[in-house]
Amino acid sequence: MSKKPNKNRLHRHARLSCAPMMDWTDRHCRYLHRLLSRETLLYTEMVTAPALVRGGAVHLLDHDAAEHPVALQLGGSEPGELARAARLGAEAGYDEINLNCGCPSDRVQSGTFGAVLMKDAPLVAECVAAMRDAVPVEVTVKCRIGVDDQDPETVLPDFLSRIADAGCTRVIIHARKAWLQGLSPKENRDIPPLDHDLVHRIKARFPGLHVSINGGIGTLDEARRHLEAGLDGVMIGRAAYHQPSDILCAADPMIFGTGTASDPARAVRSMLPYIERHLAGGGKLHQVTRHMLGLFAGRPGARAWRRSLSEQAHLPGAGPGLVEAALDRVAPLAAAARAV
Ligand SMILES: Cc1cc2nc3c(=O)[nH]c(=O)nc-3n(C[C@H](O)[C@H](O)[C@H](O)COP(=O)(O)O)c2cc1C
Repeated sequence: MSKKPNKNRLHRHARLSCAPMMDWTDRHCRYLHRLLSRETLLYTEMVTAPALVRGGAVHLLDHDAAEHPVALQLGGSEPGELARAARLGAEAGYDEINLNCGCPSDRVQSGTFGAVLMKDAPLVAECVAAMRDAVPVEVTVKCRIGVDDQDPETVLPDFLSRIADAGCTRVIIHARKAWLQGLSPKENRDIPPLDHDLVHRIKARFPGLHVSINGGIGTLDEARRHLEAGLDGVMIGRAAYHQPSDILCAADPMIFGTGTASDPARAVRSMLPYIERHLAGGGKLHQVTRHMLGLFAGRPGARAWRRSLSEQAHLPGAGPGLVEAALDRVAPLAAAARAV
């Protein structure tokens, strides 16, 4: 699991990926997700290049060897600074460096990165070229289909041609526009309409580019339909976070044709030593368990599990015993449901 993938292996892992999500896909979340699926490509939260290069915040790159294959997402728009940040990421061991061209938040816009970069394809191409020159690992881009009043049918192909010419071989397209004025980041993930068909048409126009689709995909069946229709990869965000077992437990057999479905209860048991190490290092239980609340979503005992962890994990002295006790209540229900 901790072996570093080369580009071909990474393209295979990218058949299914878990989206970068600020405050959600931190290292604890990724460790859990890796226990559920050995194959799915995982992404960090966005880390800004200025924070790494000017702020020296290299602790933001900390991750566990078990997380591979794992991609670092960077935010930035200054080619030299992004190249230095990419180098720090590659030296820290990340398998891929991804540039965020899709995030519409105000804070990010003010630093001229994220979705506003859809308006400046030549600059993005320069950034990609600088990052490619700086690192041996693959450089990829996550983008929208356009922003504001742009026409995606013309803007997106131009954007992709330019970044492909600069050496980007894989893109993830969030299949909706971002509206840079008037919508919150959360609204920008729901209100602009999805256009999955456009991403399929784009793939047909760029057969040599590895194209992953993202946005509103909620089941593995849906993911498989996109792959069968010709896309190279599917990235799932919110569904993977809120119902990790539905998306990740069957991902290896269903999407990659390897292994057997994983078991959320076994993953919880495997989290216990990790939690002990985290607490021994001065961490808090809820920092890890907040990512585990949805593990039994849709299964018997889900509500009791969620309630125990969310109400008690932040209490002083809370430790792995709390997680074990909650599991002991859920596991028999799950086993009984399987036996019916
Ligand atoms: C809480 C949250 C934080 C996010 N943070 C990022 C981020 O740091 N970088 C990024 O490219 N996209 C970010 N996104 C967008 C997701 O990566 C993804 O594109 C979006 O949620 C649509 O996919 P979904 O419908 O499968 O969730 C975030 C989404 C959520 C819900």
